[in-house]
Amino acid sequence: MNKIGAGNFDEHQSEFLREILAGLGKRQKEIPSKWFYNETGSSLFEEICELEEYYPTRTEIRILHDNIKHIVDLIKPGTSLIELGSGNGKKIRILLDVLTPPYSYIPVDISHQYLFSSSKELQNNYQDINIVPVHADFTKKFVLPDNELDNSKLIFFPGSSIGNFSPSCAIKFMSHIRKTLGSDCNFLIGIDLKKDIQLLEAAYNDKKGITAKFNSNILLRANNELGANFHVNLFDHKAIWNKSMGRVEMHLISKLNQEVIIKGNKFFFKKGETIHTENSYKYTLDEIKLMVKKAGWHLKKSWIDSEKYFSVNYLT
Ligand code: AVI
Repeated sequence: MNKIGAGNFDEHQSEFLREILAGLGKRQKEIPSKWFYNETGSSLFEEICELEEYYPTRTEIRILHDNIKHIVDLIKPGTSLIELGSGNGKKIRILLDVLTPPYSYIPVDISHQYLFSSSKELQNNYQDINIVPVHADFTKKFVLPDNELDNSKLIFFPGSSIGNFSPSCAIKFMSHIRKTLGSDCNFLIGIDLKKDIQLLEAAYNDKKGITAKFNSNILLRANNELGANFHVNLFDHKAIWNKSMGRVEMHLISKLNQEVIIKGNKFFFKKGETIHTENSYKYTLDEIKLMVKKAGWHLKKSWIDSEKYFSVNYLT
């Protein structure tokens, strides 16, 4: 039934088309969560970070502030800070405010607009720092500027974005970073912790419906970029804690029996059938220790908040 239609697509759109056709062709329909992040999706995610129910952002910021002295003591002078998925650059400011120049900050992000506008703003605010933005998908191979290769490096990966990888992909990813960036490289990574189911589910089912908008934006994106004909209001948002998998899952549920066409490819949805759009894995401290070890890193220190919601981890 699936046939990829011809069209004047750029590489990015072809990849989106390929992945959506493959994902909707599965028994449990799915669309990979990386397709959330166009301009609308990125700004909806920023709104999510400000929500009362979404505890990770403010908790991680609090942990960084509360422990900044210890963190900075672990960072060698002249280290290059490499932030993966830098977004608006809000969290890195906590480090930039206290580190002593000269050193470099290398934000790596897939969103061109966010990367260059926030780098420009940071450079105005921190004039003694060398800021070198790298426009890349950090989950694939990316190249660091030549003159940064010999410096000590600290990878900064906040926000529990590692939770959007499956545990085995998370290990592969961390191991790949270790192998490509060499021995003089440390890792500062935010990882969300397992907790009460009510808190977890509320964080992904906010009352204002921003997460619902963020979720259904993936269908709007398919309509706008691939000419799909999703009736977005015929899908409901749902986020559930899957205990056996240790993850919050986001789904879009079809409200009725319906058919969607994407470039000549027809997909049938039964009433109640879902499209699985995101996994957000949560870990215990023991699980973090094990995952890190399997990726060839050593967990030197974990900082957590008093409610044990979130962890910031320093790996060597
Ligand atoms: C980016 N990532 C870590 C977020 C998370 O919590 O998994 C994305 C998100 N999805 C819904 N709300 C936030």
